[in-house]
Amino acid sequence: MLSSRIRALEESATLALSARAAALRAAGREVISFTAGELDLPPPPAVLEAVGQALARGQTRYTPTGGTPELRAAIAAAIERDTGIAYRPEQIVVSNGAKQSLYNLLQVLCEPGDEVIIPRPYWVSYPAMARLAEAVPVLVETRAADGFKLTAAALEQALGPRSRVLVLNSPNNPTGAVYEEAELRQLAEVVLAHPRLFVIADAIYGKLVFDRPAAPSLLRAAPQVRERAALVDGVSKTYAMTGFRIGWAAGPREVMEGCLRLQSHSTSCAAAPCQAAALAALTGGEEPLAAVRALLAERRRLMVERLQRLPGLALVPPQGAFYCFPSVAAWLGQSVAGSCPQSTEQLCQLLLEHAQVALVPGEAFGAPGHVRLSFALATEELVRGLERLEGFLREQAPAALPQKPAAPA
Ligand SMILES: Cc1ncc(COP(=O)(O)O)c(C=O)c1O
Repeated sequence: MLSSRIRALEESATLALSARAAALRAAGREVISFTAGELDLPPPPAVLEAVGQALARGQTRYTPTGGTPELRAAIAAAIERDTGIAYRPEQIVVSNGAKQSLYNLLQVLCEPGDEVIIPRPYWVSYPAMARLAEAVPVLVETRAADGFKLTAAALEQALGPRSRVLVLNSPNNPTGAVYEEAELRQLAEVVLAHPRLFVIADAIYGKLVFDRPAAPSLLRAAPQVRERAALVDGVSKTYAMTGFRIGWAAGPREVMEGCLRLQSHSTSCAAAPCQAAALAALTGGEEPLAAVRALLAERRRLMVERLQRLPGLALVPPQGAFYCFPSVAAWLGQSVAGSCPQSTEQLCQLLLEHAQVALVPGEAFGAPGHVRLSFALATEELVRGLERLEGFLREQAPAALPQKPAAPA
């Protein structure tokens, strides 16, 4: 019944866990979920007002495939502020979320059998999207000792004649890694030395950093890579607008024309009122963003501090996004609540049953041995959840387990 492409798509590793969390909730148990991939806040008020105004103005029809001229102009201005590079409106395509922008790009860039270089741990959709483009995902290991960042040497080693795309996500989901300018420059040099290689910079969490206003940008660090790079961003994470489904890509004209053509035959355009909302977000000033950053910085501090004192956990503190990604490898093969978890999926099931906390197992990101905890949840809930986790792990901690965090492996 199903095409081979769809048969080959694996189900999300977190599906069983979400179903069990829902069942526990339905049975009246209070589950604290650290699985959120979105902020627990409403969008800025100006964004909500803009939707009503757009509807009242009659913005209820198709827009141009690549987005309204106003939104494309605002995106171009924002990119120029962030990177110093002026993109023309036709080099920007607005899509239904950054996810569609990434999908478009991989479809447009890859021939069957081309290789897509994806640093591991990775956001779960990159390998699936590469396969849907009939490309081969090449997963390149990063190390905790390098802050989970791809090094130029590791990239160089992974490249071959079929290498087509490097997907670089900074700040990173799930690790929170943020590439510094010098690191970006080194990676860009490798990209430029390989004539068929194109880089997709996924900067969807670019404004969600804690010690500065924005993460370093690949295009600012290495503007000479612009002819072989596309920047992907959106309003989902930054402005708590995941449900609006507005993202975009900016890149070389030919590539973006390809995205436009593809999109014209798939979704036509992003929803008109949502584009008006995204315009309000982008032109609404820095204030809402600064408040989000301050809130996340405080939650990050709380989570990092508490995770670092848990037995058998090793954490590289995140520099951006809203996730912690500790190693729990020391717990695997140990006795936990009468069981002996062999995988992080099994450990997460036990934590859900016995501590009523939901974490995402590292298998979902190609990194078994780790778990992802989001700190995009109410501060009070976050603290209560971490207390539960700590209570349970301390109770279970066998003598063999180090009581202090192990050095990151
Ligand atoms: C790294 C990364 N890129 C892209 C996206 C997609 O964002 P959007 O909601 O705009 O499609 C996500 C969402 O979780 C993400 O984590």
